[in-house]
Amino acid sequence: MNFPLLKLIHILSATLMIGTGFGSAFYLFFTYKKGNVSTVKDVLKLVILADTIFTTPSVFLQLVTGVLLTEMLGLTFGKWFWQVMGISFIVFVLWVRAAFIQLKLRKIIEAENEITEEFHRLMRIWFYLGVPSFLASMVIYYMMVFKVTF
Ligand code: HEM
Repeated sequence: MNFPLLKLIHILSATLMIGTGFGSAFYLFFTYKKGNVSTVKDVLKLVILADTIFTTPSVFLQLVTGVLLTEMLGLTFGKWFWQVMGISFIVFVLWVRAAFIQLKLRKIIEAENEITEEFHRLMRIWFYLGVPSFLASMVIYYMMVFKVTF
């Protein structure tokens, strides 16, 4: 596959990954703040669906296309490569943790049919996982465009 086509796929998957992730988090957070149980339940289910069909495949596509592009540019195993991989790994761990919390939240709200103390507690953790994950993704965008290392 030629370089520009691979890069196009890489950028489209980044758009899908960050866009779906940020959009889902935005709607879930503000729906939760409004406190309507049945709306929270519906939005939570849709967020989990979006993570399954859009975010998860794009995370893997991102990594594969990124490594192939790096290989084509001869940047593999350099400082930039390892820093990008390191930050991507942190983003991945935070995101997986948040995704599992969403599954727990769904279980709680379906069983209790109310927003319990445990639900509030998990929502706080989910929020504090999401913020650094999003900021670290912005750092990756910066590293992609400017090719800087730290
Ligand atoms: C959150 C994850 C990532 C995002 C948001 C992202 C985003 C982007 C964007 C927007 C570009 C276009 C930059 C430009 O043309 O100036 C790009 C290019 C590129 N990315 Fe990523 N990327 C991510 C992960 C990765 C990973 C894990 C690797 C592999 C180590 C990688 C390797 C590359 C390479 C080699 C290019 C081509 C740069 C060039 O044409 O000079 N990316 N990425």
